[in-house]
Amino acid sequence: MKERSAIYPGTFDPLTNGHLSIINRALKIFDKLVVAILTNPQKTTLFPLDERISMIKEVLKDKPNIEVESFDGLLVDYVVKKRTNVIIKGLRALSDFEYEFQMAIMNRKLNRDIQSVFLMTDYRWFYISSTIIKEAAKFGGEINGLVPPLVCKKVKEKYGF
Ligand code: PNS
Repeated sequence: MKERSAIYPGTFDPLTNGHLSIINRALKIFDKLVVAILTNPQKTTLFPLDERISMIKEVLKDKPNIEVESFDGLLVDYVVKKRTNVIIKGLRALSDFEYEFQMAIMNRKLNRDIQSVFLMTDYRWFYISSTIIKEAAKFGGEINGLVPPLVCKKVKEKYGF
């Protein structure tokens, strides 16, 4: 049978337990998953690209069939380059829907052979995002248990805790 693969794109600044939940769910459906980090020099991130890649690789090192890479340009072009046709997106609450809906339709307009597949994150992570994790950590809020332990350590280091 043909190997089913998918791309899970994002900024991952930083990786959260919400992202991990999506990765674990995607691995139950697909044989191979590429975690694809957008290279966006215009966007100011807490972690530079190389740090995000190495952190994600380390966190996912025991999971089989995962590749971690960066990409630039259009996501649909990258998906074709990786010889797959599935984009995985995570959905939390309604607030994600409008933006994701817009992007899925635009991606479909750009390439009709690619399907966007939406997976729900575990309800425990409905309220977390990379942005809210950084916001809390910046002011000394405890983020332990909301992000992988390595990410928790690195975020605290960044903010000098
Ligand atoms: O984690 P994020 O920041 O929500 O991820 C957004 C991402 C990387 C999935 C999105 O910005 C993206 O796909 N960027 C690549 C450019 C592109 O193809 N945009 C959509 C069609 S114009």
